[in-house]
Amino acid sequence: MITTPETKICSSIANPTSPLGCLMYNSAFEYLKLNYIYFAFVVTDVENAVKGIRALNFRGTTISMPYKIEVMKYIDKLDETVKSIGAVNVIINDNGILTGYNSDWIGAITALKEVTKIRDKKILVLGAGGAAHAVVYGLTKEGGKVKILNRTISKAEEIAKIFNTEFGGLNEIKNVSNYDIVMNATSVGHKNSNESLIDKKLLNSNQVIFDTITVPLESKLIKDAKEVGCKVVPGWKMLLYQAVWNFEKFTGKKAPVEVMEKALKNWATK
Ligand code: ATR
Repeated sequence: MITTPETKICSSIANPTSPLGCLMYNSAFEYLKLNYIYFAFVVTDVENAVKGIRALNFRGTTISMPYKIEVMKYIDKLDETVKSIGAVNVIINDNGILTGYNSDWIGAITALKEVTKIRDKKILVLGAGGAAHAVVYGLTKEGGKVKILNRTISKAEEIAKIFNTEFGGLNEIKNVSNYDIVMNATSVGHKNSNESLIDKKLLNSNQVIFDTITVPLESKLIKDAKEVGCKVVPGWKMLLYQAVWNFEKFTGKKAPVEVMEKALKNWATK
């Protein structure tokens, strides 16, 4: 694309970086013929990177690992959700005022609501890191009855206190069949590990299984759950829907979801 002085610039701050944002956002800009462009930057100095957003008047910036917490120090305003979740994954620049938002939880809840309602459902969440904070925020906001299990129980207890949920250790996974919805928000199953914390024999077809793992597109947990006949939500849907929300904030236009989904899947299946 040929940029002009009017082109609105969006970017990412991450280390390492992924090609996914460039593919999803730029495909969508092109499809809607918007004068926008998105660049991915590998950043080591977040403070100066944020100054760069202001100085160069970027419209918006997505924040990925490992900067979702650190970046909060350098921006002007934090959305209410960020104060609860404790992490920013997108910054919007409105006339030089940088506001941090969290759309990870929106991605998760939008994806889950495609297959189930959440209110009053018994929900088991595995993990107590950044991903778990975002999903538990969304699940409790939507009226789900959540229990958090984590390898390090003290971390599960910390989140449980923030969101007023139950918590426990991974030894309680044996009770997984008591839950309507089960979410893996640990890093187990990432890349080629082909691991799952949940024994397939403990799953039943009435359950909804959600995995926040995005690489591979179908984790071992998602494959097992499909074989059992469960409804499944793979992590790429959470990724897609948070990007859809970000795109709409960047542009004020409705996102072409299918175009973004195609870009994501083309990359992930390469
Ligand atoms: P993210 O921001 O992606 O959530 P994170 O903050 O590093 O990443 O959190 C990773 C989560 O996966 C944690 O809940 C971690 O458990 P601990 O808090 O005990 O470290 C969990 N996790 C990672 N490897 C695990 C493993 N082999 N077995 C069980 N849980 C694991």
